[in-house]
Amino acid sequence: MTDLRDTHLLVVGATGGLGAALSRRLVQEGARLTLAGRNEDKLSALARELGEAVVATVAADLSVPDGPAAVAAAAVADGGLDGVVYAAGVVAFGPLGELDDDTFDELLLLNFVAPVRLLRSLLPQLNPGSVVVHLSAVVAETPMKGMAAYSASKAALTGFGTAMAAELRRQKIRVLDVRPPHTQTGLHTRPISGTPPNLPEGLNPDAVASRIVAAIADDEASLPSSAFGA
Ligand SMILES: NC(=O)c1ccc[n+]([C@@H]2O[C@H](COP(=O)([O-])OP(=O)(O)OC[C@H]3O[C@@H](n4cnc5c(N)ncnc54)[C@H](OP(=O)(O)O)[C@@H]3O)[C@@H](O)[C@H]2O)c1
Repeated sequence: MTDLRDTHLLVVGATGGLGAALSRRLVQEGARLTLAGRNEDKLSALARELGEAVVATVAADLSVPDGPAAVAAAAVADGGLDGVVYAAGVVAFGPLGELDDDTFDELLLLNFVAPVRLLRSLLPQLNPGSVVVHLSAVVAETPMKGMAAYSASKAALTGFGTAMAAELRRQKIRVLDVRPPHTQTGLHTRPISGTPPNLPEGLNPDAVASRIVAAIADDEASLPSSAFGA
Protein backbone atom coordinates (compact mmCIF):
# COMPACT_ATOMS: atom_id res chain seq x y z
CA MET A 1 0.00 0.00 0.00
CA THR A 2 1.15 3.54 -0.72
CA ASP A 3 0.03 6.18 1.74
CA LEU A 4 -0.54 9.36 -0.24
CA ARG A 5 -0.78 11.62 2.80
CA ASP A 6 1.80 14.42 2.61
CA THR A 7 3.30 13.13 -0.63
CA HIS A 8 4.20 15.76 -3.22
CA LEU A 9 2.94 14.84 -6.69
CA LEU A 10 3.09 16.64 -10.02
CA VAL A 11 -0.13 16.48 -12.07
CA VAL A 12 0.44 17.41 -15.72
CA GLY A 13 -2.69 18.25 -17.69
CA ALA A 14 -4.38 19.22 -14.43
CA THR A 15 -6.60 21.63 -16.38
CA GLY A 16 -8.17 18.75 -18.34
CA GLY A 17 -11.23 16.69 -17.48
CA LEU A 18 -9.32 13.70 -16.16
CA GLY A 19 -6.41 15.75 -14.78
CA ALA A 20 -8.73 17.93 -12.68
CA ALA A 21 -10.71 14.91 -11.42
CA LEU A 22 -7.44 13.15 -10.52
CA SER A 23 -6.15 16.27 -8.75
CA ARG A 24 -9.30 16.51 -6.61
CA ARG A 25 -9.17 12.81 -5.72
CA LEU A 26 -5.44 12.91 -4.87
CA VAL A 27 -6.03 15.89 -2.56
CA GLN A 28 -8.84 13.96 -0.84
CA GLU A 29 -6.23 11.27 -0.14
CA GLY A 30 -3.95 13.87 1.46
CA ALA A 31 -1.45 14.52 -1.34
CA ARG A 32 0.08 17.94 -1.98
CA LEU A 33 0.23 18.86 -5.65
CA THR A 34 2.12 20.88 -8.18
CA LEU A 35 -0.37 21.54 -10.96
CA ALA A 36 0.73 21.92 -14.59
CA GLY A 37 -1.47 22.97 -17.49
CA ARG A 38 -1.47 25.22 -20.49
CA ASN A 39 -4.52 27.41 -19.84
CA GLU A 40 -3.55 29.84 -17.06
CA ASP A 41 -7.13 30.77 -16.14
CA LYS A 42 -8.18 27.13 -15.66
CA LEU A 43 -4.98 26.46 -13.71
CA SER A 44 -5.61 29.39 -11.32
CA ALA A 45 -9.25 28.35 -10.82
CA LEU A 46 -8.27 24.78 -9.90
CA ALA A 47 -5.51 26.03 -7.57
CA ARG A 48 -8.04 28.30 -5.79
CA GLU A 49 -10.45 25.36 -5.45
CA LEU A 50 -7.81 23.03 -3.99
CA GLY A 51 -6.34 25.67 -1.68
CA GLU A 52 -3.43 24.82 0.60
CA ALA A 53 -2.89 21.40 -0.98
CA VAL A 54 -1.39 23.16 -3.99
CA VAL A 55 2.37 23.63 -3.67
CA ALA A 56 2.81 25.44 -6.98
CA THR A 57 1.33 25.90 -10.43
CA VAL A 58 3.17 25.98 -13.73
CA ALA A 59 1.79 26.91 -17.15
CA ALA A 60 3.67 25.56 -20.15
CA ASP A 61 3.15 24.37 -23.71
CA LEU A 62 4.38 20.77 -23.72
CA SER A 63 4.64 20.61 -27.50
CA VAL A 64 7.74 22.84 -27.54
CA PRO A 65 11.08 21.16 -26.80
CA ASP A 66 11.73 23.05 -23.53
CA GLY A 67 8.17 22.71 -22.21
CA PRO A 68 8.56 19.43 -20.28
CA ALA A 69 11.88 20.54 -18.73
CA ALA A 70 10.28 23.82 -17.61
CA VAL A 71 7.46 21.90 -15.90
CA ALA A 72 9.98 19.57 -14.23
CA ALA A 73 12.10 22.48 -12.99
CA ALA A 74 9.09 24.20 -11.43
CA ALA A 75 7.91 20.98 -9.77
CA VAL A 76 11.23 20.27 -8.03
CA ALA A 77 12.08 23.88 -7.14
CA ASP A 78 11.55 23.16 -3.42
CA GLY A 79 13.00 19.64 -3.30
CA GLY A 80 12.16 16.09 -4.38
CA LEU A 81 8.93 14.70 -5.71
CA ASP A 82 7.01 11.52 -4.82
CA GLY A 83 5.49 11.06 -8.24
CA VAL A 84 4.04 12.42 -11.44
CA VAL A 85 0.69 11.88 -13.15
CA TYR A 86 0.82 12.64 -16.87
CA ALA A 87 -2.76 13.43 -17.95
CA ALA A 88 -2.13 15.83 -20.84
CA GLY A 89 -2.97 14.76 -24.36
CA VAL A 90 -4.74 15.49 -27.64
CA VAL A 91 -6.83 13.45 -30.06
CA ALA A 92 -7.43 13.59 -33.83
CA PHE A 93 -9.81 11.73 -36.13
CA GLY A 94 -9.85 10.79 -39.79
CA PRO A 95 -8.31 8.40 -42.33
CA LEU A 96 -4.57 8.41 -43.00
CA GLY A 97 -4.97 10.34 -46.26
CA GLU A 98 -6.35 13.30 -44.27
CA LEU A 99 -3.61 13.26 -41.63
CA ASP A 100 -1.43 16.35 -42.14
CA ASP A 101 2.08 16.68 -40.76
CA ASP A 102 1.23 19.26 -38.09
CA THR A 103 -1.51 17.05 -36.65
CA PHE A 104 0.74 13.99 -36.68
CA ASP A 105 3.56 15.93 -34.98
CA GLU A 106 1.27 17.33 -32.27
CA LEU A 107 -0.25 13.91 -31.52
CA LEU A 108 3.18 12.38 -31.03
CA LEU A 109 4.60 15.37 -29.16
CA LEU A 110 1.81 15.59 -26.59
CA ASN A 111 0.94 11.93 -26.16
CA PHE A 112 4.42 10.36 -26.35
CA VAL A 113 7.44 12.67 -26.69
CA ALA A 114 6.51 15.09 -23.89
CA PRO A 115 6.03 12.41 -21.18
CA VAL A 116 9.38 10.86 -22.20
CA ARG A 117 11.14 14.23 -21.97
CA LEU A 118 9.37 15.02 -18.70
CA LEU A 119 10.37 11.76 -17.02
CA ARG A 120 13.98 12.18 -18.17
CA SER A 121 14.08 15.63 -16.54
CA LEU A 122 12.33 14.52 -13.35
CA LEU A 123 14.22 11.27 -12.69
CA PRO A 124 17.10 12.71 -10.64
CA GLN A 125 14.56 14.31 -8.28
CA LEU A 126 12.13 11.41 -7.82
CA ASN A 127 12.29 10.03 -4.27
CA PRO A 128 12.51 6.23 -3.75
CA GLY A 129 8.93 4.93 -3.58
CA SER A 130 7.76 7.38 -6.25
CA VAL A 131 5.04 6.53 -8.74
CA VAL A 132 4.91 7.55 -12.42
CA VAL A 133 1.39 7.40 -13.87
CA HIS A 134 0.84 7.64 -17.63
CA LEU A 135 -2.63 8.12 -19.08
CA SER A 136 -2.48 5.97 -22.18
CA ALA A 137 -5.83 4.72 -23.55
CA VAL A 138 -7.88 1.68 -24.54
CA VAL A 139 -6.70 2.23 -28.15
CA ALA A 140 -3.19 1.13 -27.08
CA GLU A 141 -4.77 -2.33 -26.63
CA THR A 142 -7.29 -2.12 -29.47
CA PRO A 143 -6.14 0.37 -32.13
CA MET A 144 -9.05 1.86 -34.08
CA LYS A 145 -9.57 2.83 -37.70
CA GLY A 146 -9.90 6.56 -38.17
CA MET A 147 -7.67 7.01 -35.11
CA ALA A 148 -4.49 5.28 -36.32
CA ALA A 149 -2.00 7.97 -35.31
CA TYR A 150 -3.71 8.58 -31.93
CA SER A 151 -3.78 4.81 -31.31
CA ALA A 152 -0.09 4.54 -32.23
CA SER A 153 0.87 7.46 -29.97
CA LYS A 154 -0.83 5.70 -27.05
CA ALA A 155 0.72 2.32 -27.90
CA ALA A 156 4.12 4.04 -27.91
CA LEU A 157 3.47 5.49 -24.45
CA THR A 158 2.35 2.11 -23.11
CA GLY A 159 5.49 0.46 -24.56
CA PHE A 160 7.68 3.14 -23.03
CA GLY A 161 6.00 2.70 -19.65
CA THR A 162 6.50 -1.06 -19.69
CA ALA A 163 10.22 -0.66 -20.38
CA MET A 164 10.53 2.08 -17.75
CA ALA A 165 8.81 -0.08 -15.13
CA ALA A 166 11.62 -2.64 -15.54
CA GLU A 167 14.36 -0.02 -15.82
CA LEU A 168 13.34 1.90 -12.68
CA ARG A 169 12.43 -1.02 -10.42
CA ARG A 170 15.82 -1.02 -8.67
CA GLN A 171 15.42 2.70 -7.95
CA LYS A 172 12.12 1.76 -6.28
CA ILE A 173 10.17 3.89 -8.76
CA ARG A 174 6.90 2.40 -9.97
CA VAL A 175 5.37 3.06 -13.39
CA LEU A 176 1.59 2.67 -13.71
CA ASP A 177 0.27 2.52 -17.28
CA VAL A 178 -3.43 3.39 -17.37
CA ARG A 179 -5.60 2.59 -20.40
CA PRO A 180 -9.07 4.04 -19.77
CA PRO A 181 -12.00 3.50 -22.14
CA HIS A 182 -13.89 6.50 -23.56
CA THR A 183 -14.60 8.93 -20.74
CA GLN A 184 -17.02 11.85 -20.76
CA THR A 185 -14.54 14.75 -20.47
CA GLY A 186 -15.36 16.30 -23.85
CA LEU A 187 -11.93 15.36 -25.24
CA HIS A 188 -13.52 13.85 -28.37
CA THR A 189 -15.35 17.13 -29.06
CA ARG A 190 -12.01 19.02 -29.14
CA PRO A 191 -9.97 17.11 -31.74
CA ILE A 192 -6.95 18.94 -33.16
CA SER A 193 -8.11 17.62 -36.56
CA GLY A 194 -11.00 15.69 -38.08
CA THR A 195 -14.60 15.03 -37.14
CA PRO A 196 -15.49 12.93 -34.10
CA PRO A 197 -17.36 9.68 -34.78
CA ASN A 198 -20.62 9.07 -32.95
CA LEU A 199 -19.54 7.69 -29.61
CA PRO A 200 -21.70 6.24 -26.88
CA GLU A 201 -21.83 7.99 -23.52
CA GLY A 202 -18.41 7.70 -21.90
CA LEU A 203 -17.43 6.80 -18.36
CA ASN A 204 -17.77 9.29 -15.53
CA PRO A 205 -14.42 11.15 -15.11
CA ASP A 206 -14.69 11.11 -11.30
CA ALA A 207 -15.19 7.32 -11.32
CA VAL A 208 -12.21 6.86 -13.65
CA ALA A 209 -10.08 9.12 -11.44
CA SER A 210 -11.12 7.20 -8.29
CA ARG A 211 -10.13 3.90 -9.92
CA ILE A 212 -6.73 5.31 -10.91
CA VAL A 213 -6.03 6.71 -7.44
CA ALA A 214 -7.05 3.38 -5.89
CA ALA A 215 -4.52 1.67 -8.20
CA ILE A 216 -1.81 4.11 -7.08
CA ALA A 217 -2.60 3.47 -3.42
CA ASP A 218 -2.81 -0.33 -3.90
CA ASP A 219 0.54 -0.49 -5.79
CA GLU A 220 -1.08 -1.94 -8.94
CA ALA A 221 1.39 -2.29 -11.83
CA SER A 222 -0.98 -1.80 -14.74
CA LEU A 223 -4.53 -0.61 -15.25
CA PRO A 224 -5.97 -2.13 -18.46
CA SER A 225 -9.24 -0.93 -19.98
CA SER A 226 -10.99 -3.96 -18.47
CA ALA A 227 -10.21 -2.63 -14.97
CA PHE A 228 -12.73 0.19 -15.48
CA GLY A 229 -15.71 -2.13 -15.80
CA ALA A 230 -16.86 -0.63 -19.12
N1 LIG B 1 -11.45 11.28 -22.33
C1 LIG B 1 -11.26 10.05 -22.80
O1 LIG B 1 -12.14 9.41 -23.37
C2 LIG B 1 -9.91 9.38 -22.62
C3 LIG B 1 -9.84 8.00 -22.69
C4 LIG B 1 -8.60 7.38 -22.56
C5 LIG B 1 -7.47 8.15 -22.38
N2 LIG B 1 -7.58 9.51 -22.31
C6 LIG B 1 -6.35 10.29 -22.16
O2 LIG B 1 -6.37 10.96 -20.93
C7 LIG B 1 -5.64 12.20 -21.06
C8 LIG B 1 -6.53 13.33 -20.56
O3 LIG B 1 -7.67 13.39 -21.40
P1 LIG B 1 -8.94 14.29 -21.04
O4 LIG B 1 -10.12 13.52 -21.47
O5 LIG B 1 -8.85 14.79 -19.64
O6 LIG B 1 -8.74 15.50 -22.08
P2 LIG B 1 -8.92 17.06 -21.89
O7 LIG B 1 -10.01 17.36 -20.94
O8 LIG B 1 -9.03 17.64 -23.26
O9 LIG B 1 -7.53 17.52 -21.24
C9 LIG B 1 -6.37 17.55 -22.00
C10 LIG B 1 -5.25 18.18 -21.20
O10 LIG B 1 -4.08 18.26 -22.03
C11 LIG B 1 -3.56 19.57 -21.95
N3 LIG B 1 -2.87 19.96 -23.18
C12 LIG B 1 -3.30 19.80 -24.46
N4 LIG B 1 -2.40 20.32 -25.31
C13 LIG B 1 -1.37 20.82 -24.54
C14 LIG B 1 -0.14 21.46 -24.83
N5 LIG B 1 0.25 21.74 -26.09
N6 LIG B 1 0.65 21.81 -23.79
C15 LIG B 1 0.28 21.54 -22.51
N7 LIG B 1 -0.87 20.93 -22.18
C16 LIG B 1 -1.68 20.58 -23.19
C17 LIG B 1 -4.77 20.46 -21.72
O11 LIG B 1 -4.32 21.69 -21.20
P3 LIG B 1 -5.21 23.06 -21.26
O12 LIG B 1 -6.65 22.65 -21.01
O13 LIG B 1 -4.65 23.87 -20.14
O14 LIG B 1 -5.01 23.65 -22.60
C18 LIG B 1 -5.55 19.61 -20.72
O15 LIG B 1 -5.02 19.79 -19.42
C19 LIG B 1 -5.24 12.31 -22.53
O16 LIG B 1 -3.93 11.85 -22.70
C20 LIG B 1 -6.20 11.36 -23.23
O17 LIG B 1 -5.67 10.83 -24.42
C21 LIG B 1 -8.76 10.13 -22.41
